[in-house]
Amino acid sequence: MLRLLLLALPCLGGSVLAFPAQGPGSKLVGIVGGQDAPAGRWPWQVSLRKFNENYGQWTHVCGGSLVHPQWVLTAAHCVEPEDLGACAFRVQVGHVKLCDNDWLTKVTQIIRHPKYNVHLSTKGGGDIALLKLEVPVALPKHVRPVTLPPASLSVPEMSCWVTGWGDIASSHHLPPPQNLQQVEVPIVSNERCRRQYQQVNSPITEDMLCAGATLRDSCQGDSGGPLVCEMNSTWLQVGVVSFGHGCGLPNFPGVYTRVSSYVPWIRQHVPLQP
Ligand code: ARG
Repeated sequence: MLRLLLLALPCLGGSVLAFPAQGPGSKLVGIVGGQDAPAGRWPWQVSLRKFNENYGQWTHVCGGSLVHPQWVLTAAHCVEPEDLGACAFRVQVGHVKLCDNDWLTKVTQIIRHPKYNVHLSTKGGGDIALLKLEVPVALPKHVRPVTLPPASLSVPEMSCWVTGWGDIASSHHLPPPQNLQQVEVPIVSNERCRRQYQQVNSPITEDMLCAGATLRDSCQGDSGGPLVCEMNSTWLQVGVVSFGHGCGLPNFPGVYTRVSSYVPWIRQHVPLQP
């Protein structure tokens, strides 16, 4: 929770964001090891906002994805504490710049997965939630729901992409103009990932999926956002950003909620697209 609060930076422009000087020739990168995403490339990406009393603004707390014109998929730890109602959240759809913000859609219902345990947090699994929007969003060319995988999908060790406005390294926020970031990440088998995370006593369960490599990862503020893989020319959302041991560290890939494990649950709540 504290991490979410620290992240909740308002859209105030560059002056308040402290950044290490960039070395000569280095370019600003985001997520970890990423680059600016072109407008419209990831048309399902949304920014989840929470009202910050101190700043008097709806500030970015997490990512999310449209899975239907009226439903957003995100992480359960993004909508904590559990007694917080839907009106505490809004989403921004269809923008790559975080601060093009004046077009927020209201959330009317939050469905947290019953398996998610607040005390275990992301480590206990079930880190997935659905948000119902007040109205279905319009679907211009650059806004489109993502396709969900079949429940039977087993993701091979292939290359996929993760997107978000989160930190570009541990405790380094994405600098203005805060363009959505993308990075290509390799899927890591649960077996390998489990061995690595054993060193920090963090169980990797069957409903989790790992992806990432040294200096290629998601990070704080990317949570709830989509990990997508292109299969047979269709982008499928296979993961929801959940947690990691640091960001982009060697041998510690990012850990995602495995979407295929939760497709039957999503289908209980979200109608198939018209
Ligand atoms: N829990 C983080 C959040 O709330 C996401 C961390 C992802 N970390 C990683 N190394 N992939 O934003």
